[in-house]
This record gives sequence, C-alpha cells and structure tokens, in this order.
Amino acid sequence: MLEARGSVRSLPTYRPPLGGREGLRLDFNENTVGCSPRVLARLREMTAEEIARYPDRESIEALVANHFGIKPDELLLTNGVDEAIHLLCETFLEPADEALVVVPTFAMYEISAAATGARVIAIPAGADFRFPASDLLSQVTPHTRLIAIANPNNPTGTVAEPATLLEIASRVPQAVILLDEAYFEFYGKTLLREWRSLPNLFVARTFSKAYGLAALRIGVLTGNAEHISMVSRVSSPYNVNGVALACLPTALTDKDYVRQYVDQIRQGREQLQRVLGNLGIRYWPSYANFVLASLGSLNNAFIRSMRARGILVRDRSSDYGCKGCVRITLGTAEQTTLLLPALREALAEIEAKEVTAK
Ligand SMILES: Cc1ncc(COP(=O)(O)O)c(C=O)c1O
Repeated sequence: MLEARGSVRSLPTYRPPLGGREGLRLDFNENTVGCSPRVLARLREMTAEEIARYPDRESIEALVANHFGIKPDELLLTNGVDEAIHLLCETFLEPADEALVVVPTFAMYEISAAATGARVIAIPAGADFRFPASDLLSQVTPHTRLIAIANPNNPTGTVAEPATLLEIASRVPQAVILLDEAYFEFYGKTLLREWRSLPNLFVARTFSKAYGLAALRIGVLTGNAEHISMVSRVSSPYNVNGVALACLPTALTDKDYVRQYVDQIRQGREQLQRVLGNLGIRYWPSYANFVLASLGSLNNAFIRSMRARGILVRDRSSDYGCKGCVRITLGTAEQTTLLLPALREALAEIEAKEVTAK
C-alpha cells in the first residue's frame, strides 16, 4: 500500500482559517487596502500572449538585484518566502540534521524542516518573548544545519538585535542561518548583504505584506552566490508565475505607495499600543504591522465581539506561550480610527456581561 514518508505522516497540519473573511481583515498581517494602483493597471494590461508564455524569472531578478543593491546571482525569486524556506530545507537538510527554531514563531520553518526528516528543536523565547540567544547557542551541536529566525517575529512582533544575529551566524558556520525579514518595511533594520562576510547567512524578504501582493505569491531569497546557485538547482525554473513577475517591477517603482502605507502602519501601531496600555491590557511592543495582546479568559469573547463589529482579528492561543492572546494587524489611518473605538466597545461589552453574570 502506498504511504507517504514517515517524516511527512508525522507533520502537523497548518491550515490557516481563511474561510469566511468578510469584514476588515486585521487577521493575516496582509496589506489591508491592496497593492499600488499602478500594479493593478499593469495587471489589467496583461495580454493573452504574456499569459501563454513560460515566465522568464531571470530578467526580473536582475531588476530586483538592482533594487536591493546586490548582484543578480545573489538572489532567487521564490513563490513567497514560504517557498524560500522550503527550498533552503531541501537544499541543505539531511534526515540526521537538526533545525533550531525559537518559539513561538512562523509555522512553516518547522513544517519544511521536519518534512526532510531532520529533527526540529524548539527553543522557547525568554520572558516577554525576548530572543533567547544563549539558550539557542547552547542547543547547537555538530548536527545543527538550520537556524530559522523571523525578525521581526510573527506572532510576537519582537526583534533580535543585529549584533546578536551576526554572532549566531559566525558561531555556527556549518548551519544555514535563515533570517526571515518578511516584516522588514515596518522595522527598518536589515542584515541584507551581511552574507558577504558570513556566507552561511540568508536573508528572505516578501512582497506579500507592505507591497500588498500576497495573492501573487512572490518573495526573494538573498545570500552568497554559490549557495544561491545550489538552492536554485532545487527550484523549478518557473517557480514564480508570470503575472507576479510582470507586476513586480511596477510594484518596486511605486516607492511612495509603500512609504505612505508603512507610515500609517507605524502611527497606527503607536496608537493601538497606547490604547491597550491605557486599558491595562498586556501587549508586547511590536516592530511589525501587528500587535500581540493578552486578553486571557476574555480572548474568545473579544474575537467574537470584534467580528460582530465587522473586524477580524486572529486568535493565537494555540501558539507556544500565547494562551489567551490575540494578534491584531494594523491597517491605514482610517482603518485604525475604526479599530480603536470598536476595541474599546467590545471590551466594555464583555466586561459589562461579566459583571451581570456575577
Ligand atoms: C515571518 C513570516 N515569514 C513568511 C511569511 C509568508 O510570506 P510569503 O507570503 O512571502 O510566503 C509570513 C506570513 O505570514 C511570515 O509571518
């Protein structure tokens, strides 16, 4: 009888709750208003002939390299950062290897690493989700082949200092250090190009968040040219679809669009954190386009009450150390002015019900 490999049979399933998402989408860390209008215009101009052709990734990679100030052979365009993670695992991990992840974090590191048969070791974040650099280094063995770090991290929004990350990369030269900068635009610090002195370091970026292209599925893996050429051997030459490749150059030119969106997110983040603080709700200061807050036993009622007000937020209770936590994505200034009163009303309503029930 046909059976999937043992490492696949024992994988956890990762099925984000994508159904029934009507309302203000503050649940998936997406851009909440969509991509630049110029990208939409480019999409509408696409011809049948362009769609009939196999996509040419390399010509667009040259443009993206220029955008990042690196050489074309130092990057690979991928089907989102998700695929970059998958390709790195397929290229470097053997079943006897170990992969280290700091939890809570983005689920795909564990899934892609475990699928290869490698052993995934989860290192709990420190108090207040601080990056546990010394605990992580204490788990390094000669078998450590991957250390995956989201910076800023999802779902906490917290960051590790650049010097700490560089130290890890230099102390574990036999391992891929994947620095996932999916939320870079909302933070501003990067280790891009540091792989020129630390060749085991890779930096991944996505166009799914600030650029609003999540449905097109496009991201980029950057790193040492020799290592990138190994990763591209594993990749299909057509891993990124032609619609995404056609739109990306336009997305990169509309710098003002991304800048004005990111400015609104940063302001909204400050406002939301201030309101949570004033209401006495615990939250973790965030460097991304979302804030994680702890509502404890009120969490489910809060999520339901927000949904009833037309606002979707994401339950993160099942993530390590996140019991009773909700993750709230920020949107535009206008959307933040809808979010804040709704949040106050939802909490007041729940608390009033609690008092009546007592
Ligand atoms: C840390 C992190 N990396 C990667 C991704 C996925 O990025 P992409 O859409 O480029 O696959 C996400 C999405 O939520 C994320 O939070």
